[in-house]
Amino acid sequence: MTHAPSHGASGLPLASRAGDLVGSVIDSSTSLLAKQTHDIIRFAMGSPAPEAIPTRALAQVGTEVMGERSPDAFDYAATEGDPALREALLAQLEGTTDETTSERLTITSGGMQGLDLAFKLLVDPGDLVVVESPTYTNGSATAMSYQAELLEAPLDEDGLDVDRLEHMVDQAGRRPKAIYTIPTFQNPSGTTMSVERRRRLLELARTWGSVIIDDDPYGMLRFEGNPMPSMHELADGDPLVFSVRTFSKIIAPGLRVGWVDADPGLGQLLINAKQAMDTCTNLPLQRLVAGFLRGGHLQDHLTEQQGVYRERKQAMQDALQEHFAGRARWTDPEGGFFLWVTFGDEVDTEALFEPALAEGVAFIPGNAFSPSKLFPNALRVCFASTRPDRIHEGVARLARAVERMTK
Ligand SMILES: Cc1ncc(COP(=O)(O)O)c(C=O)c1O
Repeated sequence: MTHAPSHGASGLPLASRAGDLVGSVIDSSTSLLAKQTHDIIRFAMGSPAPEAIPTRALAQVGTEVMGERSPDAFDYAATEGDPALREALLAQLEGTTDETTSERLTITSGGMQGLDLAFKLLVDPGDLVVVESPTYTNGSATAMSYQAELLEAPLDEDGLDVDRLEHMVDQAGRRPKAIYTIPTFQNPSGTTMSVERRRRLLELARTWGSVIIDDDPYGMLRFEGNPMPSMHELADGDPLVFSVRTFSKIIAPGLRVGWVDADPGLGQLLINAKQAMDTCTNLPLQRLVAGFLRGGHLQDHLTEQQGVYRERKQAMQDALQEHFAGRARWTDPEGGFFLWVTFGDEVDTEALFEPALAEGVAFIPGNAFSPSKLFPNALRVCFASTRPDRIHEGVARLARAVERMTK
């Protein structure tokens, strides 16, 4: 584990944890791409399609809940979340695999705050935290910001390889404090953990006394295959599962509204921790989301999004087949936003980034998803935010960049 010198570039006496703040290649791509002036097909960020943002319904609900007769919508909110949103969310989740109760629910400022709260409450410096390999590195970076030691456990097409994980933990000779998993349509690989593995992971967590941080922002975006129980449902109230959810992918990321579903015994601690972070999640947007849910817009919106994303995933696979058959392999997600492409050793995807950008296409290199940089010849593409014809053009540009780099 690396620690910052007590004086950083600023000359200020920094805390040792400052050296463990690693930043996000994924998030930084937003500002990098905003500076580009030529046409770029953006497979980089994990955002919903711009045309899939339900702007009409949001605008209509916005006028209702934030109109001139609603000054209270601009006040501070209760830290655990505005009652209007809590109520609408509980009703929305009823009968789904994420059904829950009021005492388990805390509204958060997006999924990232849910992860921060989880690691803040669970991790002491030097604690072992399991992350998937590859993983969503904003999650692993959050664990690192609390000075966790990471154990990267491999994935295959059925998600986290739980047998390998058991072996790795045996070898490490100590039990993990937490296991960070994205079980459904994983970011970045697009794979989904099988039900058998979910059950086995729960057993292992019980044996080890580890908390499973179940980060599942994409579960409602299934466009193929059979529905699967969430870790939350399988846990059936076991306090060892801490679930993190967000509206970012199912409505819009700019809302910065999400929720945590955790053992009621953690409720007051979550409130204390959140009060020391941001007091409350911003109230106007909680009211906006509440109105959106109350108006029955979410289900229609999800159905529409699923159709759009199914078509886009197919377009991405067809284009990859056309340009990279025999040269690369890729995953086949049944939902969510991402597909993971692995090339042969001759393609270094970090080196490919600049030529690809010059060619007019952006992706995230594989190493951005591994704290130990285990994926130099892989990359993540988001198929969700680009129209099918542009997906074909983007993959053609990527193929030209690979061609130029390897010739
Ligand atoms: C797996 C995963 N967890 C958490 C988040 C963060 O969600 P939010 O944007 O709501 O903070 C993301 C966003 O990309 C994600 O992919």
